[in-house]
Amino acid sequence: MIQLNQVSFEYKNDEGNLSELALDGINLEIREGEFIAVMGRNGSGKSTFARCLNALLVPTAGEVIVDHMLTSDRDNLIEIRRKVGMVFQNPDNQIVSTTVEREIAFGLENLGVSTPVMHEVVEGTLRRFRLEEYRKHPPHLLSGGEKQRLALAAVMAMNPKYIVFDEPTAMLDPISQQELLNILYDIKSENLKKKTTDQITIIFITQFPEETLRSDRVLILNKGRIAFDDRPEYVFQNIKEIRNMGLDVPIESEIKKMLVEYKGLSLEEVDELFHGL
Ligand SMILES: Nc1ncnc2c1ncn2[C@@H]1O[C@H](COP(=O)(O)OP(=O)(O)O)[C@@H](O)[C@H]1O
Ligand SMILES: [Mg+2]
Repeated sequence: MIQLNQVSFEYKNDEGNLSELALDGINLEIREGEFIAVMGRNGSGKSTFARCLNALLVPTAGEVIVDHMLTSDRDNLIEIRRKVGMVFQNPDNQIVSTTVEREIAFGLENLGVSTPVMHEVVEGTLRRFRLEEYRKHPPHLLSGGEKQRLALAAVMAMNPKYIVFDEPTAMLDPISQQELLNILYDIKSENLKKKTTDQITIIFITQFPEETLRSDRVLILNKGRIAFDDRPEYVFQNIKEIRNMGLDVPIESEIKKMLVEYKGLSLEEVDELFHGL
């Protein structure tokens, strides 16, 4: 579990003065195996939030606890970084190796994994992410979608318990976007076959509301605070409030709300209608 207790974060500006709060008193529990989508307009604090989860940033007030480890304790840093993987918007900023297979092996080498195990993991990962034919390729020759798959593959090879995605689909073409989204939601489906302790928890930041519909929980950040935190179908009933925060709602949610309001159906009845389609 990742716990955030009264977490605030304040960046220092150029003069060294503190500026507005990027995160403002966030309380949250992220449980094993959850798939949490996070939305919020530019500057709402999403990336700051993401970076606080794996100790890239330490809150200026409050605490973040990853499986009983405080992120502010430097002694926990290596273990926290191993448990909480990160995938960023631009894969070029995170890929460091000269070939695809070396990129996947890189994190494992740092963990001191034995050579036979490393080979096995690298092979399995290449296969799973459909990167086998590119194994000897320099990553910069891959397409955007392939690079993002490689970034995720290298993170997954390290067997993290949590993966934080900071707008991983933002720079991709629609097909690669869909491919990556399917990989993410496959991780969610695979969780159902695993013991809770082996499940992978996903925190998925996106600006595209449609991408959040299959999540367990949608968080909406507004000015560093959590404005909504609920199942997607409930969160997106708040169309006016969400629009006022500079965000869109999925078309599907709009139609559902219209059916609720103008046909006098309950949300459950509307859901049933949709499932029948
Ligand atoms: N390195 C930084 N220095 C100063 N202010 C920052 C820095 N990074 C982000 N901010 C500010 O913190 C707030 C939240 O930013 P961020 O977490 O990047 O939001 P988001 O990812 O939702 O766009 C914004 O007002 C932004 O300008
Ligand atoms: Mg951001």
